[in-house]
Amino acid sequence: MRITEPSTADEFAGYYALRWKILRAPWKQPRGSEQDDVEDSCQHLMVVNDDDRIVAVGRLQFNNIREAQIRYMAVAINAQRRGIGSRLLLALEQRARELGASRVVLDAREQALRFYRKHDYVVHGPGHTLFNAVTHIQMTKTFDHQAR
Ligand SMILES: CC(C)(COP(=O)(O)OP(=O)(O)OC[C@H]1O[C@@H](n2cnc3c(N)ncnc32)[C@H](O)[C@@H]1OP(=O)(O)O)[C@@H](O)C(=O)NCCC(=O)NCCS
Repeated sequence: MRITEPSTADEFAGYYALRWKILRAPWKQPRGSEQDDVEDSCQHLMVVNDDDRIVAVGRLQFNNIREAQIRYMAVAINAQRRGIGSRLLLALEQRARELGASRVVLDAREQALRFYRKHDYVVHGPGHTLFNAVTHIQMTKTFDHQAR
């Protein structure tokens, strides 16, 4: 298993396909709805298993020079709860640190609250509701300066 950045058209197709399958298809949203208009300026990471299948994806964007935001974290259903999301989250945080962030913010789906809490994110306040159904909670993690 390895963590890598998508770079070829095929890799990006697979990357967005998993994002759509986990975060959009269950709410009957069309292909394309999984992307927004800042993809080109974001950092994209994915976990690829030993059979070369993409099993997890996640995106990092900068809101300002110190604040990074993680979005679109998705682990393939049959790969969940095996530590893969944790590995990807840590890699995204590492990338955020390397690029100068002092904190990470994210909007967590309710069912992912425990996952982010386990990784030291704290609740900041209520977030948006997607498709009139998916409630989000704003969470933050401030990096320990000594650990950078
Ligand atoms: C949420 C998600 C990214 C977590 O990734 P993962 O690989 O499944 O999580 P990990 O195996 O690294 O979990 C680490 C710990 O987080 C917690 N956790 C993870 N998923 C959880 C869940 N669904 N419910 C409760 N706790 C959970 C557990 O404490 C877990 O440790 P344990 O399995 O030893 O108990 C992944 O399950 C996922 O993509 N879910 C569907 C889409 C989604 O909600 N994305 C987040 C959008 S904000």
